Amino acid sequence: MIEADLRDRFKRVMRRHPTGVTVVTSLRDGEPRGMTLSAFTSVSADPPMVLVCVNREARSYLYISTSRIFCVNMLAAGQRELAERFSGRIRDRQFEGVAYGTDATGAPVIEGTIGHFDCEVEHEHHAGSHSIFVGRVLACASRGGNPLGYYEGGFHDFIAQSVGT
Ligand SMILES: Cc1cc2nc3c(=O)[nH]c(=O)nc-3n(C[C@H](O)[C@H](O)[C@H](O)COP(=O)(O)O)c2cc1C
Repeated sequence: MIEADLRDRFKRVMRRHPTGVTVVTSLRDGEPRGMTLSAFTSVSADPPMVLVCVNREARSYLYISTSRIFCVNMLAAGQRELAERFSGRIRDRQFEGVAYGTDATGAPVIEGTIGHFDCEVEHEHHAGSHSIFVGRVLACASRGGNPLGYYEGGFHDFIAQSVGT
């Protein structure tokens, strides 16, 4: 009971943490897969490394853990529909009608995002229900536009405004 209380409290507190929204893609046996993911962060610049936290029950988990590649696509404010599409709404043929290319690994690089990091998996650490994949960045690029944000359970346009002094 206490554990359930703590879990609920944990979720409530996490909702207060604003994040960007990404779609993490992978490719296994020629089949692309993607999932909406906010648990993404930079790890190291030398060499360039990032991490993503993936629920091991997600279908994407099998793709990333076996192919050992993933690409973090950072969504633009106008791409809410993609965030919803890749959060389980569409189970099969996820990429139908989605414009994408590829970079170093062959994992989908979605068009219209504000940037991407194309990675090969260097480490996988199990942590509770999730796996932390640490990726070595093989290629990356940034583009213009405002990021899509997630806060208090909803999507937001995080307009980059300085708070000044
Ligand atoms: C805004 C948002 C952020 C999410 N962040 C994560 C995350 O960081 N890690 C994760 O495992 N799932 C996250 N999810 C849930 C996955 O997108 C969802 O479980 C997905 O449908 C798994 O897809 P799959 O089973 O088709 O691979 C997030 C969902 C949303 C809407």
